[in-house]
Amino acid sequence: MAVRVRNPNFLSLILVLCLLASASAKVFFEERFDDGWENRWVKSDWKKDENLAGEWNYTSGKWNGDANDKGIQTSEDYRFYAISAEYPEFSNKDNTLVFQFTVKHEQKLDCGGGYMKLLSGEVDQKKFGGDTPYSIMFGPDICGYSTKKVHAILTYNGTNHLIKKEVPCETDQLSHVYTFVLRPDATYTILIDNVEKQSGSLYSDWDLLPPKQIKDPEAKKPEDWDDKEYIPDPEDKKPEGYDDIPKEIPDPDAKKPEDWDEAEDGEWTAPTIPNPEYKGPWKPKKIKNPNYSGKWKAPLIDNPDFKDDSELYVFPKLKYVGIELWQVKSGTLFDNVLITDDPEYAKQLAEETWGKQKDAEKAAFEEAEKKREEEETKDDPVESDAEDEDDAEDAGEESDADSKPEAAEESDDETKESDKHDEL
Ligand SMILES: *[C@@H]1O[C@H](CO)[C@@H](O)[C@H](O)[C@H]1NC(C)=O
Ligand SMILES: *[C@@H]1O[C@H](CO)[C@@H](O)[C@H](O)[C@H]1NC(C)=O
Ligand SMILES: *[C@@H]1O[C@H](CO)[C@@H](O)[C@H](O)[C@H]1NC(C)=O
Repeated sequence: MAVRVRNPNFLSLILVLCLLASASAKVFFEERFDDGWENRWVKSDWKKDENLAGEWNYTSGKWNGDANDKGIQTSEDYRFYAISAEYPEFSNKDNTLVFQFTVKHEQKLDCGGGYMKLLSGEVDQKKFGGDTPYSIMFGPDICGYSTKKVHAILTYNGTNHLIKKEVPCETDQLSHVYTFVLRPDATYTILIDNVEKQSGSLYSDWDLLPPKQIKDPEAKKPEDWDDKEYIPDPEDKKPEGYDDIPKEIPDPDAKKPEDWDEAEDGEWTAPTIPNPEYKGPWKPKKIKNPNYSGKWKAPLIDNPDFKDDSELYVFPKLKYVGIELWQVKSGTLFDNVLITDDPEYAKQLAEETWGKQKDAEKAAFEEAEKKREEEETKDDPVESDAEDEDDAEDAGEESDADSKPEAAEESDDETKESDKHDEL
């Protein structure tokens, strides 16, 4: 279909508006991990005295679309990672909040997080760790076959609330952009690689507030409420002679044995078998109850405990962004962290970074995989053996994932958070 531009001025007006829109984007924090990033980020001492604090590697990774575009990557297995950066405190009241970053799991992650957090108020960054309260936790989390999801945890009134909708995350070994958009009308959108994956309302997709309506606790089922869907047919009658049908009959195929001696063995009687005519005690057939009034449900009433909060979406003192993770297998690389009020700006940044590099990164990854496979067959020319070894390795990895140290369990946000969630 041809688009005819009736008024060329209209087109330039749109252009100007677009420029204005992007010119007015407020960027609260943007980190591309260029030179000097170490001055902006504070590595926490959390878990250092237990020798469980992992080192970050400043790198573009084993495969990438631009070797000069570096990020920070977890580099030691079985380690905790905690790092954060500060920005001028702001409130998202009356504004859209966009939180976005790129993450790549080069290690074929089988158990570990790839999420980031926004923190509020005053935080001792040197002590930032799993127990530090946060405002928003967002990003992918993978563990075994069951957990492959995007977390979106919002802290409201001191309690962490998980999103109630399932949002699957990416599971390959390539870079992906995760975006969380929170709007002043209390709606949100989650995007991966600039594609919308989930959206809705803070009211329906989190249990931040008590429910607006509840079942009336005073309501009782009326005496004459008929909740039997089927009833015995009053018209149905027992057929004549029904009760005379015996349960068992003598086996018509049985024959008196040749050597049966009536004098010694007594009178021969055929053994009995179940009577195929016998259908059990008579029951009238069931029909639909013409008086059926449906299943009784208590009517809903307004919940006296519900108090709306017009600032449900507001985080008034956002001040830090942090990564706090436990990793069984390291290799997760973060880049292009952005906090802004403009979804368009975030989209453009994603296109300029991830979008521009993704094809080259994919090609580099495929090349690396080919090399790895060649190495493997060189080491072990008998193919079937090589496969067996792979299987053994996989099995080993899985049990590794299960054998998290106890400390790790404690910091496992998912467990902790869902426990909290269940208590509600
Ligand atoms: C950092 O990453 C690069 C690229 O993957 C790798 O060659 C190097 O060994 C890594 N360094 C550490 C200390 O892990
Ligand atoms: C906030 O939490 C406190 C303590 O749990 C509770 O008493 C209060 O009702 C909550 N307020 C809101 C608005 O949810
Ligand atoms: C249906 O309700 C009417 C009125 O209460 C009653 O007379 C009738 O027997 C009921 N029918 C059945 C099948 O229960």
